[in-house]
Amino acid sequence: MENQGKKPTIIYVDGVFDIIHSGHFNAIRQAKKLGDILYVGVNGDESVTKAKGPPLTNNDERAYLVGACKFVDKVIPDTDYTPSIQLLDSVGADFAAHGDDMAVNDLGVDCYAEIKNADRMKVFKRTDGVSTTDLIGRLLQIGLNTESQTVSETIYKPLQSKYLSTGWRFKEFCNDKVPHPSEKVIYIDGVWDVLHEGYIHALEIAKSMGDFLYVGVYDDDTCKTLYGSNYPVLSLQERTTNLLALKYVDDVVIACPKVINQEMIISLNISTVLVEETTVDLEKDNRYDYPKKIEILKKIKSKYPLNNDFLVNRIMERKEEFKAKYLKKSIKEEEYYKKRKLSDLIEI
Ligand code: CTP
Repeated sequence: MENQGKKPTIIYVDGVFDIIHSGHFNAIRQAKKLGDILYVGVNGDESVTKAKGPPLTNNDERAYLVGACKFVDKVIPDTDYTPSIQLLDSVGADFAAHGDDMAVNDLGVDCYAEIKNADRMKVFKRTDGVSTTDLIGRLLQIGLNTESQTVSETIYKPLQSKYLSTGWRFKEFCNDKVPHPSEKVIYIDGVWDVLHEGYIHALEIAKSMGDFLYVGVYDDDTCKTLYGSNYPVLSLQERTTNLLALKYVDDVVIACPKVINQEMIISLNISTVLVEETTVDLEKDNRYDYPKKIEILKKIKSKYPLNNDFLVNRIMERKEEFKAKYLKKSIKEEEYYKKRKLSDLIEI
């Protein structure tokens, strides 16, 4: 009991968290390890717009998604893109934390200079191979492909660096538990592509219906069979990491079977299988025939839409703006990866 009698260390990590992704979750996870309690500041729309242009998702959406992460103790919404000592003191945080790609404001000044000077800054390793810019590129390309039925313009250039998920990193995200035989095990499957409120609300309902929630996540080929060649936006590794970061998810069945059968129900001791009613037509789709037959299938309904179309539509509504921004920022990202050298900073 190292910390007995000692005041817990409170860390403040902040960001835009636009289209929250596995890099953000890995940032939040590492920040939590730098202290005992983690506060996460979600930069407000106005402040973000001034520093780097309007985000795709708004303040409330971004704060809701950050609040669903299991490593977060408190969300502080609508914060300034440039955090101050006064902010740290007002929320009671001891240190601020950020990835080793330090943020600069609209004038090119380090946003954390004041905090660094006061020796209240902690830095963790940024996660390679995933970024908001890259996700905007992926979604924009889907929009362009869908718009043009013949040959579409190619804008998206995949990052040189890939999101790598090692066994160690998965372990760090996992809850170290299996369901007790007496616990009510719930199962819900899906693609679980780019995270949004619809998914989070469905998972929140699913968790509330039992003691232990297994979430099945389809492999990339199954997603393509179900939703077409543009999907999934995120790889299986990225989607699995995202799910494991959520407080409603107890464990993930990685590359789960598309059709739920008897063997699977017995293996995982599943007592209820859930489907979100807007995502499946049970008359035409045979994936859930077995749980339906043995009467363990239940329908739920998320209060928000379940697919990613609204994100693609938002980008396409401001297509030229997003194209220009993506092209500019993706060049910067490539430069960042080219310039990177081995560093002493290790992922924690
Ligand atoms: N972060 C990270 N790894 C990534 C992306 C972000 O560790 N691949 C960290 C950032 O260093 C920061 C926090 O996540 O500490 C929030 O980042 P955010 O403000 O959302 O913006 P960016 O750093 O610009 O992230 P992105 O490139 O995805 O927009």
